[in-house]
Amino acid sequence: MSIISENLKNPEIIIALDYVDKKSVFNLIDKIDPKLFKLKIGHSMFIKFGIELIKEIKRLKFDIFLDLKLYDIPNIMFKSISIISELGIWMTSVHASGSGNVMEYAKLALRNFNKPPLLIAITTLTSFSECDLYQIGIKNSLPKYILQLAKLTKLYQLDGVVCPGFIAKKIKKNFGNDFKVVVPGIRFINHNPHDQNFVTYIEEIKKYHMDYIVIGRTITTSSNPVKDLYRIWNYVNTR
Ligand code: C5P
Repeated sequence: MSIISENLKNPEIIIALDYVDKKSVFNLIDKIDPKLFKLKIGHSMFIKFGIELIKEIKRLKFDIFLDLKLYDIPNIMFKSISIISELGIWMTSVHASGSGNVMEYAKLALRNFNKPPLLIAITTLTSFSECDLYQIGIKNSLPKYILQLAKLTKLYQLDGVVCPGFIAKKIKKNFGNDFKVVVPGIRFINHNPHDQNFVTYIEEIKKYHMDYIVIGRTITTSSNPVKDLYRIWNYVNTR
C-alpha cells in the first residue's frame, strides 16, 4: 500500500524573484497577496541587495525562501545556517551532494532557534541532464541519483528536497507525505524551457505530488505577471 495519504494538498506557489532591480520586485509583490504566494530570493538578488531586501520584503508579510543552495564544509555550514536562521525566513536550501555529514551540521544549527526555517536539500538542478551527471563522474541514472540524495536527506532529518517534477510522486511514495517536495522548472505547455532540462507543465500540475512549485521566468518575463500568477493559482487550486 502506498504511504501517500489521501489528503494531498494542492501545491503552494513560490515566485523566484530573479530580477535585476528592486523596482521590478516591488512592482510585482505590491500587487499580490502574501497569503497566496511565497517568494524566493536566489543568489543574484541576494548578492546584489543582501539582507536589506529580505527585511523590506518581510515587512510586506511574505514567507521568504532564501535559496542559496549552500555547499561547504560542516563548520561553515553550521555558521551560515545559524546566520540565515536569525533572519526569520521561512525556508532555505543546501546541496544534498555536500554529504550527510554536512547536512547534519546544517540541521544542528537550527536547534538554537524557536522558529527555524525549513531546511531543504537540492538533489539535482532542474537544468541537469544525464550527460551532466556523467561528466562529473556519476554513473548512476539521474532518477537513481535523485532518489539516493533524497534518501540521504531524509536520513539526516531535513525537511525535504528540491527535485524535478517527474520524480516528485516517487519521492512522496518512498519517503512519506511529510517530506516536502519543491519543484522548479514550471512552464505553460507552449512556453520556452530556457536552460531547464526538466520542465513541469502548469496544465498538468495535478498529476504530480508536490508541496511547492517554484515559478521564475514564466512570471518575471511576462508582460502581465499579476494576471499570469492568478491564472496559475486558479489552475493549481480549482481544477
Ligand atoms: O525561471 P525558472 O522558472 O526556470 O526558475 C527556476 C528557479 O528555480 C531559479 O531561481 C533557480 O535558481 C531555481 N532552481 C532550479 N533548480 C533547482 C533549484 C532551484 O531551477 N534544482
